[in-house]
Amino acid sequence: MDKKHIYLASPTMNGREMKFIEEAFASNWIAPLGPNVNEFERELAAYVGTSHAAALSSGTAAIHLALKAAGINQGDIVFCSSLTFSATCNPILYQGAIPVFIDSERDTWNMDPNALSKAFAKYPNAKAVVIVNLYGTPAKLDEILSICNEYNVPLIEDAAESLGATYRGKQTGTFGRFGIYSFNGNKIITTSGGGMLVSEDGEDIEKARFWSTQSREKERHYEHKEIGYNYRMSNIIAGIGRGQLLSLDKHIELKKKIYETYKKSLEDICDITLNPIPENCEPNYWLTCITINRDSKIKHLDIMLALENECIESRPIWKPMHLQPIFHDCGFVKADDTIKGVSEDIFNQGVCLPSDIKNTDEDMNRIVGIIRKLFER
Ligand SMILES: Cc1ncc(COP(=O)(O)O)c(C=O)c1O
Repeated sequence: MDKKHIYLASPTMNGREMKFIEEAFASNWIAPLGPNVNEFERELAAYVGTSHAAALSSGTAAIHLALKAAGINQGDIVFCSSLTFSATCNPILYQGAIPVFIDSERDTWNMDPNALSKAFAKYPNAKAVVIVNLYGTPAKLDEILSICNEYNVPLIEDAAESLGATYRGKQTGTFGRFGIYSFNGNKIITTSGGGMLVSEDGEDIEKARFWSTQSREKERHYEHKEIGYNYRMSNIIAGIGRGQLLSLDKHIELKKKIYETYKKSLEDICDITLNPIPENCEPNYWLTCITINRDSKIKHLDIMLALENECIESRPIWKPMHLQPIFHDCGFVKADDTIKGVSEDIFNQGVCLPSDIKNTDEDMNRIVGIIRKLFER
């Protein structure tokens, strides 16, 4: 019999998305924009507790427009978490700016506030900070924000992976001058592809909407004074988002259950450590990850291969940006210069475990059984 395929994190639809899509078809609001876009913006802003939101074609587009609205230009230095997906920092290059990567700390896996302070001492003219809440776990947002405030530099919060997670009771994505979310296929809620830019500043969000629709001036004819982009979300996609948003809390609950199952089932294996859950926060548990002790005879690759042999998807931890060939010229700042770097260590030892909320108890037993068997040899 064929083995059941288990995914890392696949879309989970609730059926209610169809109602919004059908409304769009019935009213022929296929394009451009339309009521679902307005409502999705309003509903998401209400969920995270922010005043304004712009629905865009991707999280990457949202980061790009955040940097542009923050005034980032050619030659500006922008600090960015190193341990992340390349989409966090590529938009820095779209603006002709220069990323300087900041190392992680062990207790959150996110940007180390001490390394950020060191970076400001080294590059006092830096113009912005882009921070990530990795795998759904909030960074030390108050510490990071107070460093940004000290240097009078805007914080852009890449909450692509952390929608619904809170830090000291406040939603991630709402700490900086801008926050962004992603709704791509594997995120905690998905629209197939899409993103959202949020801010307390209505003028900035209005400007982002303008840029995202080719910067068309308010004239009868097509008048353009600024460069524009085709970054707006469609009314159909926004309909999927409205339906998915109804399930966000449920998805977080199920993701948390997955984390707890892995914790309970693997915690007696001393070579395995789960991704940390820091104080003062409630993650959305998007992906459960583990690191393997450096001197363990089983390596992270052994786990990925053993799962792959059984048709089970897992994934390496993001390879830090300062180690990527495309960014080899960029600066990298870590808190402790006597060690290689925390982000590099996590990458070398870590695995993202299958965290699909449709996993059954049987699926979870299968995954855990394969991992445990490796360590029993
Ligand atoms: C941390 C992070 N930032 C940004 C993005 C980009 O989002 P999108 O794929 O919607 O452009 C993603 C996901 O793809 C991500 O994981």
